[in-house]
Amino acid sequence: MILWLAPMDGVTNLPYRMIVQRVFQQYNQSPNQTLWTWTEFMNADGYMVQPHRLAHHFIHSDQEKNLIVQIYGWTRETLVSTAIDLDRKYGSHIAGIEINIGCPSPRVMACGGGSALMRDYDYLRSIVEEISESIQLPLSLKVRTWLRNEDKSEWFDTLVGLTPFCKMITIHGRTFSMGHSGENDRDYIQRFREAVSEQCLVIGNGGITHYDDMQGKHIDGYMVGQAAIGDPRIFTPHEPTPQDRYDIIMEHMHLLLAYEYWKEKNIPDTYEDPATLHNKTLLHARKKGGDIGDDTRHEVSELQLHDFVMMMPTMAELDDIANNLGNYVDFDREHQGLVEFRKYLFNYIAGLPESKELKKSLARTKEYHMMRREIDGFFSGMS
Ligand SMILES: Cc1cc2nc3c(=O)[nH]c(=O)nc-3n(C[C@H](O)[C@H](O)[C@H](O)COP(=O)(O)O)c2cc1C
Repeated sequence: MILWLAPMDGVTNLPYRMIVQRVFQQYNQSPNQTLWTWTEFMNADGYMVQPHRLAHHFIHSDQEKNLIVQIYGWTRETLVSTAIDLDRKYGSHIAGIEINIGCPSPRVMACGGGSALMRDYDYLRSIVEEISESIQLPLSLKVRTWLRNEDKSEWFDTLVGLTPFCKMITIHGRTFSMGHSGENDRDYIQRFREAVSEQCLVIGNGGITHYDDMQGKHIDGYMVGQAAIGDPRIFTPHEPTPQDRYDIIMEHMHLLLAYEYWKEKNIPDTYEDPATLHNKTLLHARKKGGDIGDDTRHEVSELQLHDFVMMMPTMAELDDIANNLGNYVDFDREHQGLVEFRKYLFNYIAGLPESKELKKSLARTKEYHMMRREIDGFFSGMS
């Protein structure tokens, strides 16, 4: 049985994936369960023209073996070219490439990606076929049950037809119109498992709030999204003590600050090579409705996209910075990383006595010592 931390934009960055992995290794002793993770998704059009701005979406470490990089977009050329580029440059350290076919965000839909890809079956199939033939890494898809709650059968059959090209399909058991809440159609996922070859793994996603929810159905794995934000032990049967929670909060906060420091030092603000600029001009022409012609299109996909290769940190490097943070980070200034950290923190403390008061006092804290004082005080009152 495979358990999955869902890809979540703004959440499943390297520090959080590492925290979830470490908690899993410590508290899940089941030999039958492994944990896999995904990156936050990345826009393929953007990656083609400005890789330095987007590639941070898939920053990963040497210790991540079970990691899938997710991309989204609409244009076949850019999705295929991005997949080929990732496969070529990072194929030896990631486990797969995935296309997002379910995001309901207006921003993603507006560029034709995410759930919008469900609208044109033939076009989608051509993209999936071409990518699967062009890369060495396994290809996977993350999909929804359909756009609306009415007849889902045609989409179901379309998906069945895509399975020969994929190593795995994750089904979020909600329609596009349901967003991220509402009842999850577990029967759809079960019927899908029964309808397709075992060569294609089928993962169920949606509405899981407890470790015990990940049992019972005959599917290949379960994926957890919202319930895993700030609750890394959801993939284990372990109920955390206040001390466990405190330790994880501290480890996560320090790792996140170390990661922000590493990024600032290593990811360039500007980078543009001639090939990138060339692609930008072509994309601009296409957006304006210009016909760039078959030859040029061929040129785009054949072109070596850009020489940019994202530098990746090792886990030892990040741990070293996290363990000696005072040598690297000025604690007296405000940190955007701490603002980011709050969204996890509120979930780490949810349900504990007086957590609402702590939440209120943390709401405007961006400074390390102040945040630390509040958290230490809160947990010392519990012991
Ligand atoms: C904040 C947030 C960001 C998300 N970002 C992504 C994403 O980048 N790619 C993706 O495939 N799904 C994304 N999702 C959807 C989740 O992966 C998951 O399918 C959804 O939350 C349903 O699972 P759940 O009921 O366990 O939360 C996101 C969801 C949330 C709440």
